[in-house]
Amino acid sequence: MRVGVLGTGVVGQAIAGKLSELGHEVVVGTRDPDQTLGRQEPDVFGNPPFGAWLAEHPAVRLAGLGDAAAHGEVVVNATAGGAALEALRLAGEANLDGKVLVDVANPLDFSQGMPPSLSVSNTDCLGECIQREFPTARVVKTLNTVNASVMVNPGLVGGGDHTVFVSGNDPEAKALVTDLLTEGFGWRDVIDLGDITTARGAEMQMALWLRLMGSLGTPMFNFKVVR
Ligand SMILES: NC(=O)c1ccc[n+]([C@@H]2O[C@H](COP(=O)([O-])OP(=O)(O)OC[C@H]3O[C@@H](n4cnc5c(N)ncnc54)[C@H](OP(=O)(O)O)[C@@H]3O)[C@@H](O)[C@H]2O)c1
Repeated sequence: MRVGVLGTGVVGQAIAGKLSELGHEVVVGTRDPDQTLGRQEPDVFGNPPFGAWLAEHPAVRLAGLGDAAAHGEVVVNATAGGAALEALRLAGEANLDGKVLVDVANPLDFSQGMPPSLSVSNTDCLGECIQREFPTARVVKTLNTVNASVMVNPGLVGGGDHTVFVSGNDPEAKALVTDLLTEGFGWRDVIDLGDITTARGAEMQMALWLRLMGSLGTPMFNFKVVR
């Protein structure tokens, strides 16, 4: 499958790397490829610059946001939540038309310090904002409730015995994403919350997730929904 992964941070890298390992044709999208490749410094968390990651993943190509979205049969939004709508506008509505758009972003607002709050919540969410602005894209919210490395390797915590969610209006799109999560990434418990409005719950879980990270001192954990 051809996949465009929009985002060059740890999440874009984790998802692009895993999809490439699984044999998919992956193009990562960034605003300015030359500038992104020119970064020499580690990011704020000490991760190596994107160029170093790309050198270790020669099957992955870096391109502009529009080219990456045009390449994908499936497009992944792994951009900063506060900038996601702007990034998707740069990717171009026509390049998202009819495509499964996997949204893993959280609308985190750091303007009042740590921990961040959500820039949209309660009666709306980022997943819905994206679906409203790009009505012909088939938005599926998922994976935003776990750390980047756990997204593509759930076995890293608790032997993989924990839960991830999907939300979206299009049943076929959710089935495709669920298959990718289970057969591709190794998730064993995927709960379909319902239509895209249910992504409010997955996004607002961030309030608890961020405080748990502070309390546990690590992002390597997840929730298991026990029925
Ligand atoms: N980090 C995690 O473990 C984790 C876990 C769950 C969910 N998430 C969510 O996943 C998303 C990606 O997280 P991340 O930590 O990998 O990276 P991030 O630092 O949140 O986002 C980096 C990406 O956002 C793009 N970006 C930033 N400002 C932009 C703007 N004004 N216009 C267009 N694009 C812009 C950057 O584009 P350029 O490439 O052009 O610089 C880059 O590709 C976020 O929404 C985050 O909340 C993260």
